[in-house]
Amino acid sequence: MNLPKLKIGNLVAKLPVIQGGMGIGVSLSKLSSAVANEGGIGIISGAQTGFREKNFRTDNNRANVNGIIKEIKKARNLSPNGILGINILKASNNYFELVKTAVKEKIDLIISGAGLPIKLPSFVKNTKTKIVPIISSGRAAKLITKVWKKRYDYLPDAIVVEGKKAGGHLGFKKKDLDNNSIKPLKEIVKDVINVINPFEQKHNQKIPIIAAGGIYTGEDIKDFLEIGASGVQMATRFVAAEECDADIEFKKAYINATKEDICFIESPVGMPGRVIKNHFVEKYTNNNLDSVDSCYKCLKRCNPKTALFCITDALIKAVNGDTENGLIFIGENGYRVNKISTVKEIFEDIKKSFDLKKEKLNSLI
Ligand SMILES: Cc1cc2nc3c(=O)[nH]c(=O)nc-3n(C[C@H](O)[C@H](O)[C@H](O)COP(=O)(O)O)c2cc1C
Repeated sequence: MNLPKLKIGNLVAKLPVIQGGMGIGVSLSKLSSAVANEGGIGIISGAQTGFREKNFRTDNNRANVNGIIKEIKKARNLSPNGILGINILKASNNYFELVKTAVKEKIDLIISGAGLPIKLPSFVKNTKTKIVPIISSGRAAKLITKVWKKRYDYLPDAIVVEGKKAGGHLGFKKKDLDNNSIKPLKEIVKDVINVINPFEQKHNQKIPIIAAGGIYTGEDIKDFLEIGASGVQMATRFVAAEECDADIEFKKAYINATKEDICFIESPVGMPGRVIKNHFVEKYTNNNLDSVDSCYKCLKRCNPKTALFCITDALIKAVNGDTENGLIFIGENGYRVNKISTVKEIFEDIKKSFDLKKEKLNSLI
């Protein structure tokens, strides 16, 4: 098997790899366009994308709309022929406005998680933008597909299945992560394929299933293609890319992190998040964080009166290089990142290890 193309409707990526959206500001126009130029699908983060705008504090909504417009235009300039998407959190307060903005800017696809994006099809009908929900169980995949078909006569253009090894917010309960009661990603992917297959048969439409969470090498990609996935979404592997939009200190924090440095916190989003231990996490653990004194009203479920910290401020500090006082999201395999490389080099390495698995299998025959 050679690394196959990834088809999402009329979009055809040369490589079956979507670079996962990383907020705040970790995957913007530079990283996404570099991935798209190598033949993958590059995803801009739609989480507080306007964090560098002057009016970010005073008019957060407008700043984010402008941020999205700028990043999409920049990425499109850097990759005129690549496939570019945006990741927009369903949990955002101004979700629909951000979606409308991205569609107006003719983004190729919108990937949306942190809640089920039930109304998403109403914003893309008769446009070129494809929509891809992120789910973490067969049950959620069936629910969203059934509801979209019934209400909007629309099937997901693809589905990202995110497992417990992913970075950032996870769609599982902290207690289930702690007691290890969550199924491995491969099993969840198989569940999703089983529940989606009848929709594909009935409506004669392919719904590509994309596996995400802990996928690091070409061999990992091969494992998921072999069980029926059409592609993978990878994020952690791209953080120490030269083209990654985060500050060099953020990349160095990845390079320096050991397995033991990676842990969970409960985020004000209402989900657990996997992060690198640092001064901030130590203060969080000891219940010693400063109280939240101002609020961007960015998240539906966050209450500044009870939130232990402001997730927006914490993520912005980290991406700007204050890696001790900010929050650094990372995937379970983040400790394997050990050097800065270009996106091209990362893809070369992925292709090499994909071929290596082929050779290993051949030598067994
Ligand atoms: C630094 C970082 C930030 C992330 N931010 C987001 C985000 O804003 N929205 C989202 O849906 N997923 C986010 N993710 C998850 C990724 O898009 C991706 O699905 C996941 O990390 C895949 O697992 P991997 O990192 O092991 O490859 C983030 C991941 C990382 C590492």
